Amino acid sequence: MAVLKLCYLGDPVLRMKAKPVAKVTKRIAKLLKDMEETMYAADGVGLAAPQVGVSERLIVVDVGDGPIHLVNPVLESGEGVDVDQEGCLSIPGVYGYVERYARVVVSGLDAKGRPIRVEGTGLMARALQHEIDHLDGILFTDKATSLVRAGEGEKTVAAGREGGKAAGEHARESGGSGPVGES
Ligand code: NI
Repeated sequence: MAVLKLCYLGDPVLRMKAKPVAKVTKRIAKLLKDMEETMYAADGVGLAAPQVGVSERLIVVDVGDGPIHLVNPVLESGEGVDVDQEGCLSIPGVYGYVERYARVVVSGLDAKGRPIRVEGTGLMARALQHEIDHLDGILFTDKATSLVRAGEGEKTVAAGREGGKAAGEHARESGGSGPVGES
């Protein structure tokens, strides 16, 4: 396994629509393991392949119940509403409140190419939605109603603002003082 290099806001790969994985090969299985290791090394709770520069539909999530690897994840259903703070490993030091489904069902393939179905509530549901968004080039800053830079007071910014001072570059994710984690 290997810790991969993260891509940060401003890298075009984060805005691309990732392509479906045609076949779950050894390369894909290894990439998922490397993504898992990268997520743990960064103290994240989720990671999507575009965040390591790979525009393919792969995500890993671990909100404390063990790692889940998903190939070609699809949001099958969502219900309820939950508003909470999020961060992103690709947008360090910035957090914002994002409305998400409170409960989701996601289908996809596991690292061996077998169909799986994952149900999640709370942080798990949030992480799954955040990661799937990454595969469509969507960042949490596009959806956040307010953004906070670590160490600063809250300030409301236009949703979707990027590149500007408000949602610009940054420092890190999850862990310690941060609220919810990345993805
Ligand atoms: Ni993220």
